[in-house]
Amino acid sequence: RPPLILLSRRLYPSAARRLPQAIIMGVRKCGTRALLEMLYLHPMVQKAAGEVHFFDRDDNYNRGLEWYRMQMPHSYPGQITIEKSPSYFVTPEVPERIRAMNASVKLLLIVREPVTRAISDYTQLRANAATASPVVPPVISKSFEQLVLLPNGSINEAYRPLAISAYHHFLHRWLEVFPRDQILVVNGDLLIEDPVSQIQKIENFLGLEPRIGTHNFYFNETKGFYCLRNETSDRCLRETKGRKHPRVNPKVLSKLRKYFGDHNQKFYELIGEDLGWPE
Ligand code: A3P
Repeated sequence: RPPLILLSRRLYPSAARRLPQAIIMGVRKCGTRALLEMLYLHPMVQKAAGEVHFFDRDDNYNRGLEWYRMQMPHSYPGQITIEKSPSYFVTPEVPERIRAMNASVKLLLIVREPVTRAISDYTQLRANAATASPVVPPVISKSFEQLVLLPNGSINEAYRPLAISAYHHFLHRWLEVFPRDQILVVNGDLLIEDPVSQIQKIENFLGLEPRIGTHNFYFNETKGFYCLRNETSDRCLRETKGRKHPRVNPKVLSKLRKYFGDHNQKFYELIGEDLGWPE
């Protein structure tokens, strides 16, 4: 669709770059890319390419809103522009900066069961470290278990993949700036299993006509995930989305689930909903 818009700008001068009316604010590894690509199946949605990182990086923020607007795709009046930068969620300055741009912006927060998210985060960090230095002999990387537990057996709360999964620590700042009903909490585990039902809720939240349905998805057995379908093509997300996770010692898993019990309760209180994550 973007090239078509560019071609037709002379015919439709109203096509313009607009600031986003909705932002996927995080959380990393919870399905932020899948969510954006699925919403883009809607004819009234335009998406920014890549992650813009305007509100969380001072060098970008200092370039001003006009720079930010120029990072956005062309859209027609009535279309919604969406961008996603998952690190917005964990960066303290971001809520206030977004409010200063547009106090009525709609925010999408996608979350997953926190231990699964932490393992996904670990898996990505390990994969990135391996590709960053392909010529250097591979460093024997530490296992997930070694990283999440301290030598005395207690939880290494400072380990970033665990810290990010304590969602309430970050969400409370957003709720000091935005009313609760301006943030839609999307269940990322359900988005994997049943994308249609989740996307329909989001269409409603964004005030979009219901257009996305079962005809937009097919299950790809090889990938093990739903892939996306529109009038012209079928496509799955890249292989970096839907990685195989390492097997984690069940004792460590249950220790972590227990540890997140309190954090999850605090998060449920903040959002006013129990997501039923295992303890
Ligand atoms: P894993 O790769 O650990 O399975 P993000 O885009 O925020 O980095 O999130 C990546 C996660 O999106 C993946 O984590 C995967 O589980 C999830 N996901 C949700 N729906 C997906 C889909 N249809 N295809 C691939 N990955 C999907």
